[in-house]
Amino acid sequence: MRAISNITPILSLLPLALSAPHGRQAVHEFDLTGLAGSFPTDGVYGTGPIASSLSITITYPDPSSTDGENLTTTCSYSWPSSTAPGPTDWTECQDSSVQWRLPTNGWTNRGNYRVELYQTLTADGAGLDATHYLTFNPGTPSDPNAYLSCIQMGKFTPTICQIDGPLSVVRGPVVMYASEETARPN
Ligand SMILES: *[C@@H]1O[C@H](CO)[C@@H](O)[C@H](O)[C@H]1NC(C)=O
Repeated sequence: MRAISNITPILSLLPLALSAPHGRQAVHEFDLTGLAGSFPTDGVYGTGPIASSLSITITYPDPSSTDGENLTTTCSYSWPSSTAPGPTDWTECQDSSVQWRLPTNGWTNRGNYRVELYQTLTADGAGLDATHYLTFNPGTPSDPNAYLSCIQMGKFTPTICQIDGPLSVVRGPVVMYASEETARPN
């Protein structure tokens, strides 16, 4: 468990960032390095009331580090049996200073959705927000978000999704640039 009060407020780094050349903002990079999804398969070969689940592994800046060290955590969500996977509200990751959700604005289906992360950095709730679309779009090199590979093997097994799989068009990690926010987006 991390003591939030010991963390240097990220906003104090802003003046330095804004003085960077070309007017660029500080780059806070979150990398989505792994993804494991399991979804019941619909249709004539349906697998019945198998729970759906999605879990991601992310690497992100260690706020207590002065020399750019990163932390890694896992964020997971399970939908109850017989419930179709859909948008999710903010859910804590293993590192509870990080939360994630699948925003309603961005969800199409289990093969086309947006992932959003929020890392709380100060006691008053300021932090970093990062988001990226992920799609399952095999054979479509024009889709820059086609990181997902989803495969069902056999009639009675769930569809398994990952990044860096055989049907991924774009290789991981999914690089997400975070913006500084005074509060977690609603
Ligand atoms: C932390 O992650 C960033 C982004 O992937 C990377 O550029 C940087 O080298 C990493 N820092 C360390 C100390 O490995």
